[in-house]
Amino acid sequence: MRKYITSTVYVLAVILLAACGSPSSGTSGNGKWQSFSGDKRIEQRVDSVLKLMTLEEKIGQMTQFSANWSITGPVMSDDFQPYLEKGLIGSIFNATSVEGIRRMQQIAVEETRLGIPILFGQDVIHGYKTIFPIPLAEACSWDLEMMQRTAEIAAIEAASDGINWTFAPMVDIGRDARWGRVMEGAGEDPYLGSKVAEARVLGFQGGRDVNSLRELTTLLATGKHLAAYGAAESGRDYNTAELSEHTLRNVYLPPYQAAHEAGVGTFMASFNEINGVPATADRWLMTEMLRNEWGFKGFVVSDYTGVNELVPHGVARDEKHAAELAVNAGIDMDMTGATFIKYLAESVKEGKVSEKSIDNAVRSILEMKFLLGLFDDPYRYLDEERAKQNTMTPEFMETARKAVSSSVVLLKNDNQTLPVTKESGKTVALIGPLMNDSINLNGEWAGLGDRNKSVPILKGLTEKYEGSTVRLIYAEGSSITETTSAKIAEAVAAARRADIVIAAMGEDFNWSGEAAVRTDIRLPEPQRELLRALKETGKPVVLVTLSGRPLDLSWEDETMDAILQAWFPGTQGGHGIADVIAGDYNPSGRLVMSFPRNVGQIPIYYNQKNTGRPVDLNNESVDYKSNYLDTSITPLYPFGYGLSYTTFGISNAQIDKKTLKTEDDKITVTANVRNTGEVDGEIVVQLYTRQLVASVTRPVKELKGFQKIALKAGQSRQVTFELTSDDLAFYGIDMQKKTEPGNMKLWVAQHSADNSNEIDFWIE
Ligand code: NOJ
Repeated sequence: MRKYITSTVYVLAVILLAACGSPSSGTSGNGKWQSFSGDKRIEQRVDSVLKLMTLEEKIGQMTQFSANWSITGPVMSDDFQPYLEKGLIGSIFNATSVEGIRRMQQIAVEETRLGIPILFGQDVIHGYKTIFPIPLAEACSWDLEMMQRTAEIAAIEAASDGINWTFAPMVDIGRDARWGRVMEGAGEDPYLGSKVAEARVLGFQGGRDVNSLRELTTLLATGKHLAAYGAAESGRDYNTAELSEHTLRNVYLPPYQAAHEAGVGTFMASFNEINGVPATADRWLMTEMLRNEWGFKGFVVSDYTGVNELVPHGVARDEKHAAELAVNAGIDMDMTGATFIKYLAESVKEGKVSEKSIDNAVRSILEMKFLLGLFDDPYRYLDEERAKQNTMTPEFMETARKAVSSSVVLLKNDNQTLPVTKESGKTVALIGPLMNDSINLNGEWAGLGDRNKSVPILKGLTEKYEGSTVRLIYAEGSSITETTSAKIAEAVAAARRADIVIAAMGEDFNWSGEAAVRTDIRLPEPQRELLRALKETGKPVVLVTLSGRPLDLSWEDETMDAILQAWFPGTQGGHGIADVIAGDYNPSGRLVMSFPRNVGQIPIYYNQKNTGRPVDLNNESVDYKSNYLDTSITPLYPFGYGLSYTTFGISNAQIDKKTLKTEDDKITVTANVRNTGEVDGEIVVQLYTRQLVASVTRPVKELKGFQKIALKAGQSRQVTFELTSDDLAFYGIDMQKKTEPGNMKLWVAQHSADNSNEIDFWIE
């Protein structure tokens, strides 16, 4: 403790010194350093610390290591311990538990020359201990407020455990269901992706005000992975992205930019190359575009060993060269690769890297530590009691349960097979490898969520129907990848005794996430064999699919009576799914990624181009058109699609004027929306546009707005959208973002393939 006091005295002295006026703060660097907060006092504090640092200590701040784990919690492995002891580590991740973090912070603050506190990071992606549905699932709720709240809760739990920084949100556009990381994003659409990015950044960071980072309930967020990681060729993780600047700017970059505009403090470089340049070495991307064009003033961390990987990428001769390329491109912190700490001092001495660029990187990192309050009290986040109080509270559980029910998507429901109400008096056979499973429910990237605590669907349904007229019978029938004739026979016997079968099937949670790519995205054959046998009983079969990606459900779509896409739902999975199955919650989820008819259609997305030989969807087989010989060009289930236990109608779509100027103008779109069914429900009303002629080809449809509204049975409401000239801007032939004149169409729709409410208008 003595040394901490010494450190505190030191820090206070630094702050006082700064307050007395330090010379020209923030003016050094390859360019003028601009602080993230724009707060002069913080800039002065940052500069006064920087002035005391040796070159090696500065590079230490640009170095991040991952803690390892022991039975009792995280420990630093011997490799990293010496750096920590010398004050040469800026950030540590995977060091969880208040106790473990305190141990490491003590070394940094009390036993090193300058006592600079460590920034503790962690992948808090869809919850920390309370696990929410995977991000792809949550996005299907189209409920931005809810997504912001789940990020807030994740931040409260993680910050209470001593974490300061999350490597989230992942905002990569996902157009390829083979790629396992689609589970972490918000799907295929740049507009929705941008809104979700914004909501999640605001949730993690506690709002737009930089001062909210000081709260003990918020985390510094990371927009990742810059850029176009989701454009990996053939869906293979870490693979090359080859795409035009138009596509990069019009499709892939908007969600990162939205994260920036929401005030995200850091970005993470992606592993992939784009058009021949690995992102980690891409000065255009990291400096010219991100900093100079967008005006980002936080810091950029590499991905895990991303700097070292510049060598196998083939742009760096060795790791020293890799470190030089990365820093000169604009990477401020090396995640676990140790290239900066090993080589940068030498590179500075050789004049290959300027000390000014090191200074600027360090300033940005120190500034975040000031904003988080770590310089004022490095232990401020470490309080076991607070951690206990802020973990898995009843309110968090309630939010998680609601998040599950609003994220599931009803894909098919013939003859109103669902819901199975408590009053129905039915006997229900509950079957399948994921029916009585808790381990898979959290999905990948599930933080410190205890997989054993997640509520299995069987438990959720059992509790739901307890004391009701519904009787449940359970048989597993198969594991995820295997079955036997005895297991199938047992499941079939259960089905025969029942009125209806509900089968929970799908993927292992490890089949999505990082380095989890599949080329066959059907349900594994043993599960389909079981489904076939169940269907042969003649009983209606409901398939509940759990997966981290859109699956090829073509056969199931033909065969099953109902399909409920439940993704990986997290801690409250069983309860949230039971709420939907029993009809206590009317499903309101809408897909954010197209479901292909088969893997050969991938990449498939609604906002495709028309081509010079577009297909007539009423007659797809015409020769020499942009079609397939063996399947439709349409997806099995389109973007924006999802059923409800009620039905909706949209009518009388109108605009207040037919022409719009290219600048400073707007039109108002109205339509009547009616719940045409017998139960209350929610609809996501979606506004799409198309520009028919422009300087570059434009997508056949683009989402420009949406509203999720609740309507009682029989109720109608008018919805209003405002569409401004700016909303219709894009990067055209001159690569400038602007609105071009042209013929336009718009649709007020229930999903991306719904053309019923079409209106023509013009941009002059
Ligand atoms: C690699 C992943 O690509 C990235 O998303 C993650 O944040 C880091 N590992 C740290 O776990």
